[in-house]
Amino acid sequence: MNDSSDKPLLEMIGISKSFGGVQALRDVDFSLYPGEIHGLVGENGAGKSTTMKIIAGVHHGYEGVMKIDGREVHFRSARDALDAGVGMVHQELSIVPDLTVAENVFLGVQPVTSFGTVDWGRMVRESREHLSRLGIDVDPRTTIGDLPIGLQQLIEIARVLSSGARIIILDEPTSALSPPEVERLFGMLRKLKADGKSIVFISHFLDDILSISDKVTIFRNGRKVLTAKVSEVDKRGVIENMIGAGHRGLEESYTGEIKLDTPFDAPVVMEADKISYERAFHDVSIKVRSGEVLGIYGFMGCGQLELARALFGKIRADGTITVAGKPLKLTRTSIAREEGIAFVPESRRAMLFHHEPLYKNMSISILERISKWLLKPSSERQIAERHIQNLRIRTPGPNQLLGNLSGGNQQKVALAKWLTHAPKVLILSEPTRGMDVGAKEDVVRIVRGLRNEGIAVVVVSTEPETVLSLADRILVMKRGEIVREFAGDTVSKDRLLEAA
Ligand SMILES: Nc1ncnc2c1ncn2[C@@H]1O[C@H](COP(=O)(O)OP(=O)(O)OP(=O)(O)O)[C@@H](O)[C@H]1O
Ligand SMILES: [Mg+2]
Repeated sequence: MNDSSDKPLLEMIGISKSFGGVQALRDVDFSLYPGEIHGLVGENGAGKSTTMKIIAGVHHGYEGVMKIDGREVHFRSARDALDAGVGMVHQELSIVPDLTVAENVFLGVQPVTSFGTVDWGRMVRESREHLSRLGIDVDPRTTIGDLPIGLQQLIEIARVLSSGARIIILDEPTSALSPPEVERLFGMLRKLKADGKSIVFISHFLDDILSISDKVTIFRNGRKVLTAKVSEVDKRGVIENMIGAGHRGLEESYTGEIKLDTPFDAPVVMEADKISYERAFHDVSIKVRSGEVLGIYGFMGCGQLELARALFGKIRADGTITVAGKPLKLTRTSIAREEGIAFVPESRRAMLFHHEPLYKNMSISILERISKWLLKPSSERQIAERHIQNLRIRTPGPNQLLGNLSGGNQQKVALAKWLTHAPKVLILSEPTRGMDVGAKEDVVRIVRGLRNEGIAVVVVSTEPETVLSLADRILVMKRGEIVREFAGDTVSKDRLLEAA
């Protein structure tokens, strides 16, 4: 932190915000200084995104005072905030999949020629420059939706970083990034900080927060509970402040050796024999047994996301996939579903309906199953109430629109869809992405419960903790191939990282 700057660039004093009956923020004070990286942590629904959205002009109806450079401001729109030098990368990507990379980089601010038409040449040239500063080498004319999600996320970040904003807010920017990409991003943030910019970094990866930030602010239940210099706190202290003292701390329990619990004699439910898909993966063979959680770990881009899709028939792999001894032609996802295969993808956007109430989002998979006789809304709501309780989803009730839930709570809804009618095989891609420590424990509990009922579960993730906490057996994938298996023994995070 720059010690010469004793005046905050941004100051929030006594900010409160409610959405209908939900009190999202209570009397929050927050200051941001020039040249600092400020980490923000807290459980799902604690109020992190809401606070930052006030700074970014997304929410305008709030109580309290916000000042920039000591002068009171009240943004009416994201445009207002941008004009005052505030740029934000939102938790949910806001790229437009059908536009090109260049169009996305310049979304809403395209350069124009002297004739008043869009200056395509300049757009392509400048977006290439912006991106190369982040080490991204991609043709700006590519349709962005065709790129891997990690790359899309980097491009979105590049857009805000190069916008010239003085205050840069990143809401969980690393969830889809590989470790080298995260390092690249951090390098970029350090440079911006050296230039005197102020950065807010929201993440559930506490190690990242502690390594990149100068200060950390902790939210709990709509209140700010602590702001401290990172040099004065440790991970355990941060977790305790996030969830209250006396908590075991899930992340810590995965730093040592984990005993794997591999059931060698249960019947094989799903088997893939030497399956390949384009350049994503080749000759991959896997077996999942009844009552087993098979973890597949690898860095972003190692082919694991495509593998998960192939097992659900979203993409058509070469080779044989068998379920309960029956070879399947997985040309469509509906075939997979009929055979009892369920899939929860890493991007909740793809499968949830933001403008529909929670209970609808939970019952959609059920509706597909019983296709003709539709459920009565009242029983849909009852089922939803049960899930809300079991999964501890933070919401006033089943009628709440999905889009109004915090990111981590939306992820729980995506999972809840499959709990009413259990499948034979459940494929989970990044099931704990964006979830806080407590929510991750809930997922572990739920997945173990399904496993104990005899369901075969495949968990694909780029987070070692996720695989370690859930899996009975672990495969490591690297450049499209399975390179290592950990079974019937112990494993540690170090050895997993080493193998990948
Ligand atoms: N537009 C909205 N309408 C209604 N309620 C909302 C809206 N936005 C947020 N909330 C509620 O406000 C509370 C705080 O949500 P917020 O998104 O700030 O949490 P968060 O700390 O960012 O959580 P996460 O880590 O899950 O992203 C939650 O209870 C959430 O459901
Ligand atoms: Mg959030």
